Formats: sequence, C-alpha cells, structure tokens
Amino acid sequence: MDSKISQREQWTSKLGFILAAAGSAVGLGNLWGFAYRASQGGGAAFVLLYVLIVLIVCLPVFVAEMALGRNAMASTLLAPVKLAGKNWYPLGILFFIAPLGIASYYSVIMGWTADTLFHSLFFGLPKNLTEAETFFGSISSGSSVLLGHLLSLVLTAIIVSSGIKKGIEKVTRYFMPILFIIIVILAIWATSLSGAWEGYKTFLLKFDFNELRNPQTIRNAFTQAFFSLSLGIGIMVTYASYLNKKSNLPKLSVGVASLDTLVGLMAGFITFPIVLTFGLSDAISESTVGALFISIPTGLGSYGAAGRIVAVAFFALAYIAAITSSVSLLEVPVSSLMDKFGFKREKSVWLITLFLFLAGIPSALNLNILGTVDSIFGGVLLIFGGFLVTFFMGWVVPGKFNEELNDSKVGIKTTRYLKFMTRWIAPPIIGFGLFISVFDLMKS
Ligand code: PHE
Repeated sequence: MDSKISQREQWTSKLGFILAAAGSAVGLGNLWGFAYRASQGGGAAFVLLYVLIVLIVCLPVFVAEMALGRNAMASTLLAPVKLAGKNWYPLGILFFIAPLGIASYYSVIMGWTADTLFHSLFFGLPKNLTEAETFFGSISSGSSVLLGHLLSLVLTAIIVSSGIKKGIEKVTRYFMPILFIIIVILAIWATSLSGAWEGYKTFLLKFDFNELRNPQTIRNAFTQAFFSLSLGIGIMVTYASYLNKKSNLPKLSVGVASLDTLVGLMAGFITFPIVLTFGLSDAISESTVGALFISIPTGLGSYGAAGRIVAVAFFALAYIAAITSSVSLLEVPVSSLMDKFGFKREKSVWLITLFLFLAGIPSALNLNILGTVDSIFGGVLLIFGGFLVTFFMGWVVPGKFNEELNDSKVGIKTTRYLKFMTRWIAPPIIGFGLFISVFDLMKS
C-alpha cells in the first residue's frame, strides 16, 4: 500500500479537539433530525431509546474510532490497513465514501437554511401552512437551491483548505461558544410561549410503551444517535489522528457526547414549544424537512416582529452548527487523498468540492432522491460502520485498542468496562439495530 502519510498537524489543545469534535457532532441533525424523529416516534419513547443508545453503544464506538485514528496516526482510508493489513482496505474505503455521500446533500440542506435566514432578514416569513408550502417550494427548487448548495460547499472548502489549526480549530473556537449562547437564549425565550408546557409534555412525557417495539422508532433512535454524534464514518478517526498521545480518549468522548446530547435536547425545548403553540404538530412529522423548514418559519412568521428576530437567531444558529459539521465531512476524504496520493491540501479540497457539487445536484433538484441518499448514507451505513469499527478494535486489533486505553491513563475499571462493551455488548446491539433499520428501510 503506497502511502505518503505526511507529518501530521495537531490540535493546539484538548479544548481545540473538543470544540472541533462537538462542532462536527452538533449540526442540522440536532436541530432538524431530532425534532422530526422525536415527533414521528411518539416523543418520549424515542428520546429514551436515543439516550440509551448513546450511553451503551455510541460511547464505545466513539472511543474505538478515536483509538483507531490515534493509533494509526493516519486518515481513515489508510488507518485500518495500517493496523491490520490489506484485507481491511474495504473498511477504509467505506470510511472514504460514506462522508462524501452525506456531504453531498448536507450542503443542500445548508443552502435551504441560508435561504430561510435570508428570508427572515429581508423578506419576511410565511404566516400559515399554505404560504409555507409555497415558501418551502421556493427555497428548495430552481436556481436558488443550486446556489445555496454551491455557496455552502465553497465556504466549507475555504475553512478546510486553511488546515487543522488555522482552519477547523479556529472557526470552531469562535462558532461553538456563539452557538451555545444563542441556543440558551432561544430555549429561555421558548418558555414564554403559550404552548411551551404542551411542547415539553409531547417531547418528554408522552410515553407510549408500544413505541419501544416499533421498528421505525428503533431505526430513528439508532440513526439519530449515530448521525448526531458523527459516528460510524470515520470523522472521529480522522480528528483523533490529530491528537497527541497523552489525551484521555474516553474522557474526551464523554465530553463531546454530552455536549451533543445537551444541544439535541435543548433544540427540542425550542422546536416543540413553537410547534405546539402554533398548532403545527402535523406539519412537523409529515416530512423530513417539515420540522425545520415548514413549521418553524411558519410559527415564527405568525408571531410578528419578535418572531422574525427569533427566526434570524434560529437560522443563524442552524447555519453555524451546520458549517462546523460540514467541515468535518470534508476533512475526512481530503485527508485521505493527502495521505494516499501525497496531494497538497488545497488540491484535495477543491477536487473533492467539485465532486460534491456534482454529486449533490440530484439531491438538490429532487427531494425524494435527497431522502433516499439520507436514509442510506446518513442512516444504515453509519450504523454498519459503527458495527465494523467496534468489531475491528475489539476483536481484530485488541492489542492496539489496549495500547490506546493505556496511553489514555484511564483506571483499570474503565479499561475493563470499555473492552467488555466494545467486544461483547456494542457489536450485537448495533447488529440488531442494523437489522431492524434495514428491514424498516426496505418496507418504506
Ligand atoms: N453530526 C452532524 C449533525 O448532527 C452531521 C454529521 C453526520 C456530520 C455524520 C458528520 C458525520 O448534523
């Protein structure tokens, strides 16, 4: 395997890593996916399953991905081969292709977000659901959708081409605190809405035990957990390859997962009150885009000037969250090309950006295609990747996994616990989730 793994850059500090990794995790998935999936699957049952999956399954996956990246000190395409030989090249290839699949349509949704922000600032928002349909039609079709897609890709490319420290780390260092401040302010504002209490109840208390057995809810919870934490496609492998040997991987992963889950829940505390106050419950669960681009603009559009200010804050927040995620999606294939072919960063960035622009055109022009690409790349493939990575670190290269846990200097109990979870608990549970998800996907 001819590789030209160059001298790797490193994060300037642990905080730099945490903010970048949390930047990747916190994204449209938290704001858009969480709300609509929660409302599809009976609210609280989904939230409970999601939290359980994060705690039991995703944390071991997270640590396994980071251990893979830091041990190999290579990008995702080459990391599995470096640790276990040529037979594992397909895993590297999966980790190369999956982020490209997500990035190709993620920028389309970012384009809608930018367009909605633009409307909130300059033209106003729809005031009822009929107007909302027309509004959504206008932001998601024609030349504006291609422009939004292109703009988002170019912005992402500019950041990634500046590198790890000067690009990704610098941007996330400024953006993440701004994001947290906006989300807290919006969650406080949402308490003042007349439907706030109804919203919280629907979100957290409406518990239907049957939902726990509903394949759609199970698939939604798995998908949301993996998508929202950016797991199963090599993001954390790549980001951890820029960490120094001293960092404590389990601690970092708990930090990032907590931040992400917190933001997901807070987003629910904003979206559900808006939706219930303005009687939009049906619109939110009707379609994948319903939550963010139909109910929220309509709810806020019918709330006068204050609503418009909130809309500006909300969609600015969404765009900030999205861009720190899309840089991570681009960084994975970019660093792979750099390592494999010795390309310069700029060359890799622009080559892949061009590819993503072309690959995203079908999703930009057709919502069904976007939905299908999302269910495959943003759904089952992530769960499959999570399964493979725990199997790989737990069973194929357990010695390397051990090395990374030792270097992390976690106690003996944590080490044992993580090894046990990575070998015996995570793979079968993820396998089960994958089985249900594929079954449910075929049905729909
Ligand atoms: N986690 C991001 C979000 O919630 C999306 C993402 C998925 C980013 C997978 C990278 C990898 O929006």
